[in-house]
Amino acid sequence: MRLAREGGTELLLPPVVAKRGPARRAAVFYNPAMSLDRDIGVAVLTAWGRARNRKVAAWEMLAATGVRGLRLLVESRALESLDLTEANPAAFEVLSSNAARYAGQGAKAVHADALLEPPRAGYGYVELDPYGSPLPFLASAIRALAPDGLLGVTATDLMVLAGPQPAVCERKYGAHPLHGWLGPEGGLRILLATLSRAARKAQRGFRPRLAYVLGHHLRVYAELPPGGGAVLDPIHLVPGDPTTGPTLGGTGPFGPLWTGPIFDQEFLSTLGVPSTAAEPRPLARLLARWREEREADTPFAYEPNRVAAALGLPKPPPLGSLLEELRARGFLAARSHLTASAFRTTAPREEVEAAAREVARRLDPTTPRTTGSSRTGAPPS
Ligand SMILES: C[S@@+](CC[C@H](N)C(=O)[O-])C[C@H]1O[C@@H](n2cnc3c(N)ncnc32)[C@H](O)[C@@H]1O
Repeated sequence: MRLAREGGTELLLPPVVAKRGPARRAAVFYNPAMSLDRDIGVAVLTAWGRARNRKVAAWEMLAATGVRGLRLLVESRALESLDLTEANPAAFEVLSSNAARYAGQGAKAVHADALLEPPRAGYGYVELDPYGSPLPFLASAIRALAPDGLLGVTATDLMVLAGPQPAVCERKYGAHPLHGWLGPEGGLRILLATLSRAARKAQRGFRPRLAYVLGHHLRVYAELPPGGGAVLDPIHLVPGDPTTGPTLGGTGPFGPLWTGPIFDQEFLSTLGVPSTAAEPRPLARLLARWREEREADTPFAYEPNRVAAALGLPKPPPLGSLLEELRARGFLAARSHLTASAFRTTAPREEVEAAAREVARRLDPTTPRTTGSSRTGAPPS
């Protein structure tokens, strides 16, 4: 172990192994590739705490070194105390020493199984950051959350949620996943539907504040207000060839999945880059992209090269020109955080295709006006 700093928090961390992608399981887990995600957490808690004007007690269920929870405690000023549970003895030893460093600010390490009783009830913030799927811990997390609390959930089981193992997704999440490049967006929407169902089962509402795909994981921040059992959330089965949005492929219907917004417009505008951020520039870029994307927050994203391929256009339309053309036709259109060239729009598919043809024709007047089929954007591969 070494004394290190992530963002504005100093703590004991295992040595960093130079490698990209998801971290392998070690006795004491620490993934430096998640520092941007932890910056987002600090930004979310800072904005959420500021709006409430009252500090809350928090629980990090699966703490490992405690880096995520401790960063929230030290950097967000939204927490009055933080309980951190960890079951693995080696990880708990490191966690204890890290929590002791911030005991004066209310940090407490607890050597316990997070599936059993929480250290206390009524947490204003619960952090659930598991290996793989959050499913086993979801009921405990919801039980421990105060009626006006916020839940932060990670899922890294993209092999299941994003398509490669559809039978496992159906068994575990009760949903048929999308596959290919839209698999992660489909996974995020299956996760949202799962969280909503779990909340409703516990007689709680479900109000997502922010949901996104980042690298090898999915992440959701949501409030679960009391009541709301009778309210129907926007959860649907989506056909492989829906009337709106891109064609999703031949193995549909997909879901049931969340077809509502993934961004809370108002909340997103309150997020800023914390002065302590470990990766301020990537975070600023991400916030700007989300703010653009929320303007056309609809399922599912398109990509110009897939639109062009489906229409038989010789070249993909430049993204900027395509968005301008869609806006000129009276629709909302915005880049998405999913990939560098992904975009969303409120335009029906025929309009997306017509806009792509128009942009292609402007670049090359020999392009026929009616080129290609209408199976835009798919099948995802
Ligand atoms: C993905 S890591 C947590 C990462 C951490 N939040 C971070 O930001 O670095 C999951 C941790 O949960 C611990 N764990 C797994 N099952 C547990 C359980 N039932 N109760 C408590 N801890 C558990 C593992 O030992 C591991 O340290």
